[in-house]
Amino acid sequence: MSIKPSDFGQAGSTSRSAPRIVVLTGAGISAESGVRTFRDNDGLWENHRLEDVATPEAFLRDPALVQRFYNARRAQLNDVGCNKGHQALAEFEAAWPGEFLLVTQNVDDLHERANSQNLLHMHGELRKVRCSRTHTIYPHSGDILEDSLCECCNEPNLRPHIVWFGEMPLFMDEIYRALDTCDLFISIGTSGHVYPAAGFVEVANNAGAHTIEINLEPSQVRDNFAEQLYGPAGEVLPGYLQQLLSDWQQN
Ligand code: APR
Repeated sequence: MSIKPSDFGQAGSTSRSAPRIVVLTGAGISAESGVRTFRDNDGLWENHRLEDVATPEAFLRDPALVQRFYNARRAQLNDVGCNKGHQALAEFEAAWPGEFLLVTQNVDDLHERANSQNLLHMHGELRKVRCSRTHTIYPHSGDILEDSLCECCNEPNLRPHIVWFGEMPLFMDEIYRALDTCDLFISIGTSGHVYPAAGFVEVANNAGAHTIEINLEPSQVRDNFAEQLYGPAGEVLPGYLQQLLSDWQQN
């Protein structure tokens, strides 16, 4: 099923302003770049217990193990590049005449490298570190070692700038404001296991938006979407977004 921009949006709207779009991405969009997802075969959570590396308790218990886990993820960013899916989103954003917000659960920087502009990392960023005491955030591309000192207090208080399980995701007010007024919500490459992101589709549905899931396979929350498109993001997204733009331009 293909839906034209004129078919979605706030019920009763007759204005010609371009639909407001919110996109949510998850690990699937970076999979074709060689970044491992979490819950697929050979995903990160197959080799690590998330309780050991992705909770505040794990960091208190064994900071060296947690830092090693994220140091490895951070180092891997040197060996990967953005793919056609990231590029298609950035090119679409540059061409789209209306509001566009990209919310990612990913902590890699591949959307930035594709040149996406209006981008929020709700689960943090690998290439940033945070002071556990003052909460100051710094850019950081190397390892964090046990004796690495933070710039603000000159003490070894650095932690990865990552939202762990049990912590509050970032930018939630801004994200919900955009969802509450969006006309189209596109979810890409996420399994729908982790809230609040998995619940964004319902917020968009309540706002009267058209909702579409683009994923390799049906997610946990597939039934909440009005439309579904299955295949690798790098193959499916460029065509879908090009069609969306040309439908709008010809409308
Ligand atoms: N194209 C599109 N989708 C893909 C591709 C691809 N090439 N490869 C895999 N996928 C899909 C998988 O089918 C799966 O549904 O991407 C999804 C990845 O799901 P998860 O591994 O669960 O990743 P994600 O949904 O981003 O996880 C959410 O959980 O562990 C936490 O904080 C972590 O941000 C992460 C959050």
